[in-house]
Amino acid sequence: MTMIKNPDLDIPPLWENAANRIVSNRWRKILVMGGIDRGKSTFCKYLAGVILESGYEVAVVDADVGQKDIGPPATITLGYPTLIGSFEDIEPTAMYFVGSVTPEGHLLPMVVGTKKMVEIVKTNFVIINTTGLIHQAGRVLKGYKIELIKPDVIVAIEKSHELKTIMRQYRNHRIIRLEPSNKAVSKNLDQRRERREKAFSRYFRSAVEVNLNLRELIFQRTLLFTGKRIEREDCMYSELTSEGVVSVSKNSPQSTGFQKNIVAGFEKNLLCGLANWRNHCVGIGIINSIDFSEGVLRVVTPVDKEKIRIIQPGEIYLEPSGREIGRMKPGSL
Ligand SMILES: Nc1ncnc2c1ncn2[C@@H]1O[C@H](COP(=O)(O)OP(=O)(O)OP(=O)(O)O)[C@@H](O)[C@H]1O
Ligand SMILES: [Mg+2]
Repeated sequence: MTMIKNPDLDIPPLWENAANRIVSNRWRKILVMGGIDRGKSTFCKYLAGVILESGYEVAVVDADVGQKDIGPPATITLGYPTLIGSFEDIEPTAMYFVGSVTPEGHLLPMVVGTKKMVEIVKTNFVIINTTGLIHQAGRVLKGYKIELIKPDVIVAIEKSHELKTIMRQYRNHRIIRLEPSNKAVSKNLDQRRERREKAFSRYFRSAVEVNLNLRELIFQRTLLFTGKRIEREDCMYSELTSEGVVSVSKNSPQSTGFQKNIVAGFEKNLLCGLANWRNHCVGIGIINSIDFSEGVLRVVTPVDKEKIRIIQPGEIYLEPSGREIGRMKPGSL
């Protein structure tokens, strides 16, 4: 069923007006923002439907890493909606691994990933959905995103004045302010976690364990595996990097300036991004184990083993069922 024909959908006259203006003016890059549960996703789906029904192609960049409509959480995805089928059924054609289900502490991969997805789009229209984090770090993030993406129009959905600061700071841009529908309802934290779990489990439903040769892999976003291996009796693994010694051991003492100590087993269930030789993200995986003596990394993923050349450790621990079981302290790796 198309979003436009959905009988549960309430389209306020101003929403309809906004969609029609966007299509008739061919405002190509549309950045949708708003606080949580304001109806960002609903508006994106509606707008995509209007664009498609007008005979144009549309892409969606889903940068809401926590509450995804397209693809697994912790990633920014690119997908192409059609008039049949729901957003949830869209297979992303490209993705970028952020490493976390919230932008806080991950502003750089958020802006880099959104930009990377937007720049590969060739369609008439591209709708960019964002997280509901709009204050403090969220405000900063939105600002830089606007500067980098240079949207042709910003759709700001606000109930009272929660977006006022962002709108004032970027009032030299074209902004359409919309009010949320009266039908907008809130999701509580459990419902949000459940939605994430479902989206992850969907992604991992066809996953298998693959064994990768550590020597053939590149590690990014971590100091680990960037140095020259050294032998230390008390450690499972140790290496000398350009920032000092990195060691993995059972009883890992506090790290100091030149000595990074990582607790053995840190890798179990760690979510990671997987990229090919060209540094394009090809999917995500859950690390089962690293065998330092055999030089093998075991990772559960639906991605074809041959495509994986780069590992980007993230900061959340996950079961393949989609259940989140912990978070890593930022900077631990
Ligand atoms: N125009 C609308 N008509 C009917 N239901 C709506 C409308 N807008 C929002 N809702 C409902 O309100 C809830 C929140 O909407 P939606 O998921 O689109 O918001 P969001 O801003 O994307 O939320 P999140 O911050 O979780 O990404 C959903 O259950 C959605 O179905
Ligand atoms: Mg949403």
